Amino acid sequence: MKPFPQSTRLFTFLVFVFCAISLSAQNSTLSAAPAAAGREQLSLDRGWLFHEGDVPFPTILGHQMSYNNAKAGASWGAASPGFDDSSWQQVDLPHDWAVAQPFEQKANISQGYRDRGMGWYRKYFKLDPADHGKHLELQLDGIATHCTIWVNGVLAARNWCGYTSVYIDISPFANFGSDVNIIAVQVDAVSQEGWWYEGAGLYRHAWLVKRSPMHIATDGIYANPVRTADGQWTIPIEATLYSSDQTSAKVEVESTLIDPSGKELVSGRTQATVDPLKESVAIFSLAVTSPELWSLETPTLYSVRTRVKRDGVNVDEATTQCGFRTIRFDPDKGFFLNDQHVELKGTCNHQDMAGVGVAVPDSLWEFRVRKLKEMGANANRCAHNPPAVEFLDACDRQGLLVMDENRDFGSSPENLKQLDWMVRRDRNHPSVILWSVFNEEPSQGTEMGYEMVRRMSEVVKERDTTRPVTAAQSNSDLNPVNASQAADVAGFNYVYYDFDAYHKKYPTKPLFSSEDTSTVMTRDEFATDRQRTVLTSYDEYVLPWGLSHRNAWKQVDTRPFVAGTMVWTGFDYRGEPQPLSWPAAGSSFGCMDLCGFPKTAYWIHQAQWITSRPILHLVPHWNWAGSEGKPIKVFVAANVEKVELFLNGKSLGLSPVDKYQMLTTNVNFEPGKLEAVGYNGSQEVARFAVETTGTAAKLQLVPDRISLAGDGYDAQPVAVRVVDAQGRILP
Ligand code: GAL
Repeated sequence: MKPFPQSTRLFTFLVFVFCAISLSAQNSTLSAAPAAAGREQLSLDRGWLFHEGDVPFPTILGHQMSYNNAKAGASWGAASPGFDDSSWQQVDLPHDWAVAQPFEQKANISQGYRDRGMGWYRKYFKLDPADHGKHLELQLDGIATHCTIWVNGVLAARNWCGYTSVYIDISPFANFGSDVNIIAVQVDAVSQEGWWYEGAGLYRHAWLVKRSPMHIATDGIYANPVRTADGQWTIPIEATLYSSDQTSAKVEVESTLIDPSGKELVSGRTQATVDPLKESVAIFSLAVTSPELWSLETPTLYSVRTRVKRDGVNVDEATTQCGFRTIRFDPDKGFFLNDQHVELKGTCNHQDMAGVGVAVPDSLWEFRVRKLKEMGANANRCAHNPPAVEFLDACDRQGLLVMDENRDFGSSPENLKQLDWMVRRDRNHPSVILWSVFNEEPSQGTEMGYEMVRRMSEVVKERDTTRPVTAAQSNSDLNPVNASQAADVAGFNYVYYDFDAYHKKYPTKPLFSSEDTSTVMTRDEFATDRQRTVLTSYDEYVLPWGLSHRNAWKQVDTRPFVAGTMVWTGFDYRGEPQPLSWPAAGSSFGCMDLCGFPKTAYWIHQAQWITSRPILHLVPHWNWAGSEGKPIKVFVAANVEKVELFLNGKSLGLSPVDKYQMLTTNVNFEPGKLEAVGYNGSQEVARFAVETTGTAAKLQLVPDRISLAGDGYDAQPVAVRVVDAQGRILP
């Protein structure tokens, strides 16, 4: 079986080093050096017990059992504290059980032919008696897909979205001292929310947060700098406080802006009264003079430390990050960052990666963002769900703009709650520039779609008015009533042919290409062979609804009113192996493969998107034994004016390079070296060569970084190269 055709020639291993850490599986007491003001955020990633498959509940029979079953704290089977889980497997989070499943032809193609099913997790921990009276919150950052959570046998939460976090106040039913606490999670991954690989299980981080009863609510700080009309910078602070105390409390809330060097710049404060079991929002602002801006090139991040004092004593503290930048969408001129025009050069991405599935270590988010930036991308669309927060952190740090996307479309209380959660969690990230409420909804061209977007947009604006709302519409944009009318910025998926008509009809509505291209390719393959499930890499296997990487960009780049693009996709992902099917299990849309190795599309986008330096790359490789004298199609991806090709030192002529189509020619194969030399005017600015290699002589292992933090969390890809005797990489 060939799970991923593109992985047949080069391989990536993901190396994980796990260290012994203080939280062992059974009966560990959760305590750590308290952070300032007594708040402790403890990782619960280590030491879970996992059971693949469901554990059926006993049938409820008879009056007494029925009566007991209807009471808080009633739990049965694997949900109950006394359940025998001694045979369960020990696992650490992030955990994706689907990625370890065999490929099954009968399984869903969308999920990469992996069975998902049901699963159970349990975790034991102890709490110090001194924790009694604190506000104790269990946080599960992401569970694929639906789940029910019990703590100490008490039904604690249900979650209906595989991409939103669950925050549970466990204080009422927590145990202390020698009484063990037991978290039990039944995960339903039979349910699915996507048509792509979603993984299964507790695939993001888990935390226990201990706070004073009077505290800053989770995601409760909104501290996003804005520039006012008179050009001054201010940080309007909204601090949402919550108290699980029994009496009202008067507190002082103080926020301090801290620059990247750790220097405290400015503080502000206000008073607030918080009633028991109520939220209270403290509002004030910080005036800031001449901050360093957050930009794509210099993504300067500041911190805002917020403290809550009661009777002069710090009772809680939270620090958020922020960036000083302005954003604006202009209906005629596109997108502006810090008043500079920035054409959105983005890719859409799902969240799985080679080896780890959706259980992506934080360091691999850094890796993925870096790879996208190296390609010349300045934006990412989170297709089609809120991402791991660690991904947004990486975008903030590295300077990549983000279209943050809601998963389930609708105006039901549950839908609006999910959307509200996303905006509340993500509203401080300078990288986030757009809130997307849907992707390609059948109701997008109807009153229903319009009315639902209107309601969702209102929910967003209750939380954040500094970023526009958009919706990725795949058609019906010209219908008399359509969803884009209720959005601030129209997003078009593959609707190039309506760009001009839409702009004419809605001249005041900004517009961008929220999804486009749709060209498949297998890395390093240059002829389609469906038997081998490989697809040509010449940017010419275009699916009917899209365009090639070159033509799609031309449609966007030649229209100043189209703010930019989100190419489908930056990386390959599991599922959607279109136009192939079994045994191909992963998509081939990516500019990079599932491991992050560049495909031809990567070089094309470098040439399209990087303007600060000459880009020159050619394909294919030059190993065509048996084709001597026969023409080989050569494609040059370049942003230079002219290219001269040399075969074994002999010039094959100088050719102009078309800005959009670049250069395609035929060269009769002769073993040796094929070299491209790029010129601007008469000056040579770049060179790139491919060479016929010898046979495989050795393997080279090339780590992505020179160090690995041995903390049990860090991970990095190691590229394995096959080289000939002279060290040349075999294709
Ligand atoms: C789009 C859709 C994506 C993906 C893509 C494949 O219409 O939004 O999620 O399915 O098609 O071409």
